[in-house]
Amino acid sequence: MAAVPFSQQVLGKLKGKVVVLTGGAQGVGAATVGMAHRAGAHVFFGDWADDKGKQVEASVRAEHSGSSGSVHFQKVDVRQYASQLALFDTAYKAHGRVDVAVSCAAVTEAPGFFEPENLDLEAVREEPQDLRSRLDINLTSVLMFSRMALAYMKASPPAEDFSRSMVLVSSIAGITEAPGLFAYSTAKHGVIGLMRALRPYTPSRYGVRVNAICPWATDTQLLAGVKDRWIQEKLPLNQPENVAEMILQCAADETLNGKSVFVAGGKGYDTEEGYDRTQAQWMGEELTAEFNRGQKVLGLGDGWTSK
Ligand SMILES: NC(=O)c1ccc[n+]([C@@H]2O[C@H](COP(=O)([O-])OP(=O)(O)OC[C@H]3O[C@@H](n4cnc5c(N)ncnc54)[C@H](O)[C@@H]3O)[C@@H](O)[C@H]2O)c1
Repeated sequence: MAAVPFSQQVLGKLKGKVVVLTGGAQGVGAATVGMAHRAGAHVFFGDWADDKGKQVEASVRAEHSGSSGSVHFQKVDVRQYASQLALFDTAYKAHGRVDVAVSCAAVTEAPGFFEPENLDLEAVREEPQDLRSRLDINLTSVLMFSRMALAYMKASPPAEDFSRSMVLVSSIAGITEAPGLFAYSTAKHGVIGLMRALRPYTPSRYGVRVNAICPWATDTQLLAGVKDRWIQEKLPLNQPENVAEMILQCAADETLNGKSVFVAGGKGYDTEEGYDRTQAQWMGEELTAEFNRGQKVLGLGDGWTSK
């Protein structure tokens, strides 16, 4: 597994950049907002938690009053197309461009949808709206967000090669088995699928890089259900700032595209490198050769999408 080191220097590249981020009112998102602003970026962040978002905006502004950047919060519900779009609009109207887009908003699993004691022929008749809504937040909104980001970046004035990028926050539950996280894990695997579909496409068609971040246990309210046991067992725990560093490393480092950065115990590792390198082991050498020939035939996938 290849380490993805964090370099404080790379943050300098964010100076003057326009960053759009969802889910910035607390946890990892809030840490990313603060760090990007400190680096001199113009940060536009949204969250449905209005009061917390305003508090983060005020405290970031006060803490880094010397920053040449700026920070703006607006209420966004990522399930609403127009609401996410309005965040991009605000950034674009203020600066005439968007350079970095980070999709970070998410919610955890709601209990009760899969447990045998709650699931029978009576209960299954009622459509589980909350389950659908969580999938909307954790997956559909990320797909919409990526499409919006590309439209606004395309409309922006030309930038240096591959300086523009999208960072999609997935999870270790998007790569591995995640007991009890039925809908969350479905969505987070979907985010990795989206990143993999985009990574050959957006650099060549838009000049925009894309990477995914896959945190393991991170000390935010999302971990509340298992945090005590985790600490008791002395398992590795990220601080939100560790994940923020990896988000901004991917955002600013022009050499990074198509990575899934597993963040564990405060450090980042690219899991795609091992996945690609060992393909012949898990797929078999013969099939790998055939498969790669098939991938060449598919190219950038225009055969699927051309009318
Ligand atoms: N904490 C962990 O252990 C962990 C592990 C793996 C992945 N992650 C991922 O990291 C990211 C950040 O999570 P966190 O741990 O900081 O959690 P968090 O709950 O502190 O932050 C998530 C933010 O998303 C916002 N949000 C949720 N639904 C929204 C909606 N519909 N519209 C707008 N905003 C909405 C919340 O209000 C919150 O501010 C998430 O994508 C999460 O899945 C976290």
